[in-house]
This record gives sequence, C-alpha cells and structure tokens, in this order.
Amino acid sequence: MINFQALFKISYGLYIVSSGDKAKGNGYISNTVFQVTAEPPRFAVCCSKNNFTTGIIQKYGAFSVSVLVQSASSEIFGKFGYRSGRDFDKMAGTNLKYGDTGVPIVLDESISYFECKVIQTLDVGTHLLFIGDLINAETIDDSKEPLTYSYYRQVKKGVAPKNAPTYIDKSKLEVKTAASAKKFKCVVCGYIYDESVEAVKFTDLPDDWICPVCGSEKSEFAEIQ
Ligand SMILES: Cc1cc2nc3c(=O)[nH]c(=O)nc-3n(C[C@H](O)[C@H](O)[C@H](O)COP(=O)(O)O)c2cc1C
Repeated sequence: MINFQALFKISYGLYIVSSGDKAKGNGYISNTVFQVTAEPPRFAVCCSKNNFTTGIIQKYGAFSVSVLVQSASSEIFGKFGYRSGRDFDKMAGTNLKYGDTGVPIVLDESISYFECKVIQTLDVGTHLLFIGDLINAETIDDSKEPLTYSYYRQVKKGVAPKNAPTYIDKSKLEVKTAASAKKFKCVVCGYIYDESVEAVKFTDLPDDWICPVCGSEKSEFAEIQ
C-alpha cells in the first residue's frame, strides 16, 4: 500500500536552476536539488523533459542553482515556476551574474548560489537527472534563511505544477478527493486552484494570497464545476 500523504513529510529546499549563456538563458523553480557526494562535491538536479531549461542544460553541459530566500515572492514563483521560457525571456529584468562556465546565475531573492558541470545524465522517465561536479559556490546573504518546500506549502500556501517530480495526482490522495472539494479559476489567466489537490481550502487561503501564475488577487478567482 502506498499512502501518498506520507510523501508530504519529505523535506526539500527550493531553488532556481538555470542554464544557457548571455544571449539566451533560462531557469526554472526546482525542489529537487541535492548533493550526492562530498569528495568530489557533486550535485543532482531533476528536470522534467517538458521544461524548456532541460534542453538548454543538455546543450550547455552546465547549470547554476540559486538558493531561494524564505521570503521569496509569489512573482518569482510565477515567473520561474509556472511559465515557460519558450514563451518569453525570463532573464529580462532579472538580476544576474554569469558563472565560470558562462551560465546565468539568478541573484534575485537568493541567499547563495553554485554552479556545476554536467558529468552524467540519467533518464528516469518523465525527467532527466543531471549530475554535476561543483565548480563554483558563493554566499549572497548570510543573514537570511533558505526557503523550504514545507514552508512554501504551509505558510505561503504555495502549490506545485505537474512538471515538479513531487506533484501528486489528486486521484492518489484519497482524503483530499472528498465530494465537497471545489475548483476555482483565475479569471485573468485561467489557472485552476483545485482543492482536491491542495491541502488548503480556497476560502482558507489568506486574503493576500495571489494567483501563482499571473499574480492576480484572490478576488479574481471564480468557482467552477
Ligand atoms: C514549487 C515548485 C517546485 C518545482 N520543482 C520542479 C522540479 O524539481 N523539477 C522540475 O522539472 N520542475 C519543477 N517545477 C516546475 C517548473 O519550475 C516549471 O515547469 C517551469 O515553468 C519550467 O520552466 P521552463 O519551461 O522555462 O524550463 C516546480 C515548480 C514549482 C512551483
């Protein structure tokens, strides 16, 4: 038996994984970044094959990881976690530096960053696991806390889209598929908040909660069937 609720107890951080160069860079929000060995220091990132960034990492053979600050805004999640770089230039207006490999590194709302050269790629089905040697790491702000996935879900009431490896299909969450679960649609961008997927009822979301995709206010959501 698999109780998918148990998986919500796993701890993760939240990051922006980027690749490319000065001419064309791109990045996405990731909660699956982890160190796999100490000597040499090696990291793995797990990228959906649907992410625009995935092909860029394959092409450039390197990626950067920006560690998000606990106070990271909904806007940064909307830009890097819900929209694709296929549709617009995510790096325009973003505070960046370029690493030793030439990949962009997002500095906005980040407390540290590191850069890796890909040494191995593992096809794990829907996602590619890139394993990279650490070649560069810096702290941006030592005084602030990193954002955890649990804080993002419980305090910020954040949600994750299908490309996140930790996304759990609502049909697998028995407790949350109660008949009373409702859906609310953002009338501005069409994003759907589905109570049967999220741990929180729409009416219980704080008043300052905003659409994770376009940043519209809660009042811009309408209940749908
Ligand atoms: C909280 C959160 C966690 C996510 N974690 C991952 C992840 O670990 N791996 C992944 O491939 N996508 C993850 N995503 C989804 C990507 O960030 C999203 O699909 C993004 O729009 C891809 O952008 P791109 O097409 O420009 O690369 C996550 C999104 C959110 C909001």
